[in-house]
Amino acid sequence: MDLSKLVVEDAARGSFRVHRSAMISEEICALERERIFDRCWLYVGHDSEIPKPGDFRRRTVAERPLVLIRGRDGRVRVFYNTCPHRGAMVARQDKGNADTLTCFYHGWSFNSQGELIAVPEQAGYSTQFSKADHALGTPPHVDSYRGMHFVNFSIDAPSLADWLGEAKTIMDLSLDAADVLGGWEIIRGSAKYDIRANWKLMAENSVDGYHLPTVHQTYLSYIAQRHKMAGAARINTNAVYKASRSFAIANGHGGITVGMPGRPIASPSPFWTEEAIAEVGRIRERLLERFGAERGAEMADNSRLMIIFPNLAFQDTHSGFRFRQWWPKGPGLMEINQWELVPREENEEIHAYRQELSLAFLGPGGFATPDDVEALESCQTGFKAREFEWSDVSRGMHRQPQQSDDEIQMRSFWRQWHAMLQGHARAAHFDDPATPVAALAEERK
Ligand code: FES
Ligand code: FE
Repeated sequence: MDLSKLVVEDAARGSFRVHRSAMISEEICALERERIFDRCWLYVGHDSEIPKPGDFRRRTVAERPLVLIRGRDGRVRVFYNTCPHRGAMVARQDKGNADTLTCFYHGWSFNSQGELIAVPEQAGYSTQFSKADHALGTPPHVDSYRGMHFVNFSIDAPSLADWLGEAKTIMDLSLDAADVLGGWEIIRGSAKYDIRANWKLMAENSVDGYHLPTVHQTYLSYIAQRHKMAGAARINTNAVYKASRSFAIANGHGGITVGMPGRPIASPSPFWTEEAIAEVGRIRERLLERFGAERGAEMADNSRLMIIFPNLAFQDTHSGFRFRQWWPKGPGLMEINQWELVPREENEEIHAYRQELSLAFLGPGGFATPDDVEALESCQTGFKAREFEWSDVSRGMHRQPQQSDDEIQMRSFWRQWHAMLQGHARAAHFDDPATPVAALAEERK
């Protein structure tokens, strides 16, 4: 297979195509495992999930069983969930609090710092046997960014800060915004479901502004109906569109910002009581005061949806703030994990509204998720027409700035995917090259 021809772009013609074997080939899926998932920084979990010493969460990351645990010393660590003795998993529950993790097979015990502290019948081992040589293993690189913990299984990984790069600026808008309300915490529970589609379709879908008016028609009319019942003005979709943009960031990240009113963090919704609207107005003022008029307004009024390459969506929107992660289980099947975050000190009414909207839109039984699942599975079925080889991801290549229904964020993803699949660390360029708009206009005459 000629990997170099899987993504083909032609800036002069404004064309960007992805070969559909990328979504159906077993061979590509195996290469992705080795060249992408074994080399990228991958999200494991959030600080707020393990607030107390001994708290742990079991996670599967790039097929490895892991444990995220807060030690007695307060430090968060990530261990391989496999006993150094003969392999059994030392954490057998998805979450819990434990002073020690005791392997159920032969009873070796480890403390929350991963040290082996007890071996039944230790006299059976030679005098050279040292507990210090049999601590729990840890991935080659573990690091965190503002409460978000990541791992990287590659020895020669770039630093996490380097990898996230400019994405940090976008993340900071959401992370700083909640600081005035005690910071974000993940609420109990998570959503977990499978989709019969290739994982990269979820990367695209998580930052796709183009499908909103078509796939999510039912949701949009539900919201319009609610506005009407509340006696509120209709949402000016034109104004929302004008205040929205797509963006691309180095290393395959990218997303959209949407100027949508009614964000729980600091833009009042017409459905709230006067008291809640006043409270949110006060929060907005605090943001403007603390972070300046421009950045404060950006935090308060704009939604941001971003993918962190390869498999994390960071979505701070009018329907709540969530992390969504997807894992390939073969070329035509993926698993989704989704967590909701709320500001610790948020007003109860707004808190309830946030959760209600999130469930209504992105819960597995909400308005959006089943429609998105249907769309993605439909694409995957379409790919079975294997003689039809190409998908088009060229929308907006000829214009700057990019509109929110353009696809520059997906091109950033695909360029990085293509570079890594061929064994490179980074795409040669993540942005659209300066497109000869004038030349295109000439051509169209
Ligand atoms: Fe864990 Fe033997 S495999 S104690
Ligand atoms: Fe959608």
